[in-house]
Amino acid sequence: MEDNRSAFNSDEYDKKVNNVLPYYSQYNKQIYDIIENLELSEFCWLDTGCGTGNLINGIKDKYPKGRFVLCDPSLGMLNCAKEKLSSQNNIEFINISSQELNFKSFFDIVTSVQSHHYLDKQQRQIAVTNCYKALKDKGVYITFENIALSTKESDSFGEKRWKNYLIAHGKTPEEAEKHLARRGVELLPITINEHLELLHNTGFRSVDIIWASYMQAGFLAIK
Ligand SMILES: C[S@@+](CC[C@H](N)C(=O)[O-])C[C@H]1O[C@@H](n2cnc3c(N)ncnc32)[C@H](O)[C@@H]1O
Repeated sequence: MEDNRSAFNSDEYDKKVNNVLPYYSQYNKQIYDIIENLELSEFCWLDTGCGTGNLINGIKDKYPKGRFVLCDPSLGMLNCAKEKLSSQNNIEFINISSQELNFKSFFDIVTSVQSHHYLDKQQRQIAVTNCYKALKDKGVYITFENIALSTKESDSFGEKRWKNYLIAHGKTPEEAEKHLARRGVELLPITINEHLELLHNTGFRSVDIIWASYMQAGFLAIK
């Protein structure tokens, strides 16, 4: 029985995620580099769709004066994150989705990694708007998401590459097909241009792509 909307239950997520997401470790590396270059010593950071807490786990020791809020609608995922990070007293956990966030101008940093691609356009807009509202002026929103490529032709080629990645990382061709069949049904990826438009329309004054591969991309938006 699934306990969250990713491909894996929370207890097997960490072991298996690299086998289905090419460049998974890159997302966090890019985020850490941005945070380092912001040169903030004290900050409030919201990670929505935190999953098992990998992002904050990899950086928390560097910023003892940082305050972290980790949110996820899956209790299974959030409990894994709590287990990993329970020794910290500067971390709070909240069992809610991005559409339920209700913070106003509170955070310096909001991150959302691979957690909004389950949403249709309307719900995604609500989620991103809540991230925007949660930020202070000049706060940064960093998001990594599955993407659709710009034409049917390029998207099919991207899917082919992803399928071969899945097979190279342990899936049978049938399992790889089944995994990809989630796209457009359980996962609703949008193109890079649609991401940029969404972020601009939400009100961010500065919006950029910071990283991209053939099926995922990262964006940095400044309030
Ligand atoms: C692929 S995992 C990513 C987890 C984590 N961010 C990471 O990078 O490992 C997707 C996560 O998004 C969460 N999620 C699903 N729907 C969400 C929503 N509407 N708002 C926020 N998180 C959501 C899931 O519960 C799951 O933990």
